[in-house]
Amino acid sequence: MVFPTDGNVLVGLDRADDAGVYKVSDELALIQTVDFFTPIVDDPYWFGQIAAANALSDVYAMGGIPKTAMNLVAFPVKDMDLSVLRAVIQGGIDKLAEAETVLIGGHSIEDKELKYGLSVTGFVHPARVLTKQNLQPGDGLVLTKPLGTGIVNTAIKAGMASADLTESVTRLMAALNRIAAETMARFDVHACTDVTGFGLLGHLAEMVSGSGRSVRVFAERIPVIEDALTFAAMGLIPAGAYKNREFRAGMIEVGDGMARERQDMLFDPQTSGGLLICMPGAQAEDLVAALKDAGLGDAAKVGEIVDGPAEKIRVA
Ligand code: CO
Ligand code: CO
Ligand code: CO
Repeated sequence: MVFPTDGNVLVGLDRADDAGVYKVSDELALIQTVDFFTPIVDDPYWFGQIAAANALSDVYAMGGIPKTAMNLVAFPVKDMDLSVLRAVIQGGIDKLAEAETVLIGGHSIEDKELKYGLSVTGFVHPARVLTKQNLQPGDGLVLTKPLGTGIVNTAIKAGMASADLTESVTRLMAALNRIAAETMARFDVHACTDVTGFGLLGHLAEMVSGSGRSVRVFAERIPVIEDALTFAAMGLIPAGAYKNREFRAGMIEVGDGMARERQDMLFDPQTSGGLLICMPGAQAEDLVAALKDAGLGDAAKVGEIVDGPAEKIRVA
């Protein structure tokens, strides 16, 4: 399919990235993204916050600052109390306020099932756009949130998760990637994305695809939610994790003897996951230290870019 384009499109549909980018002037480009989904937690206020944090994340992943947003709402008005909708939207508004982003419009329709999300527009300097491309040999990979939210959500649905765990994972999903983005902006970053539905290795595979580089991933250093390992060992794994593993099987080599539940973390679909940041290896530990100082205690260097064999991910 051929998509319409023009000379000001810096990032468009010809390649998969977190958001589109359109140059307005030599000083300013717009980042535009949209995301919405069905509830992933029971509490409507938290659902609103998570949906907003998730929609804002793609702007942060492109190196930008979110400025404006519009609500997207589908609501079963005959079957659900309007107070639910109010709580969802309040969650979104509060999360936008935390991101200093203004809600300037939206659209709602009647639907069988509740759905909520936002389109978000952000600003970035045209020379400072971060995409999934531009991996360099010797670069380090930094991850800013722990993995395992998909597995814990599966355990929550099965009634297996404690109230404490449910709350902490809900807070993790609702946490903005703003601090991560502001911290990485002080460094020379080569590439960035956010970890969502394809899992860590699925999103890493998008970065590696077409790069001519390959990646070594340090499985033991990857931050994970400890309880998620327990649930994974019990087989509480979302269907998406199997699909993610299958889809990229040709690119990924997992070292012998690595526990199956630790492998499952790497493919676990995340909701509003952390940033995956690619930058010169010598600076990667400094970024990790700066992220920890800023309160992101789970941040870790999780891999490095190496020369050949081209476009493979080795996990050991
Ligand atoms: Co994204
Ligand atoms: Co998105
Ligand atoms: Co990007």
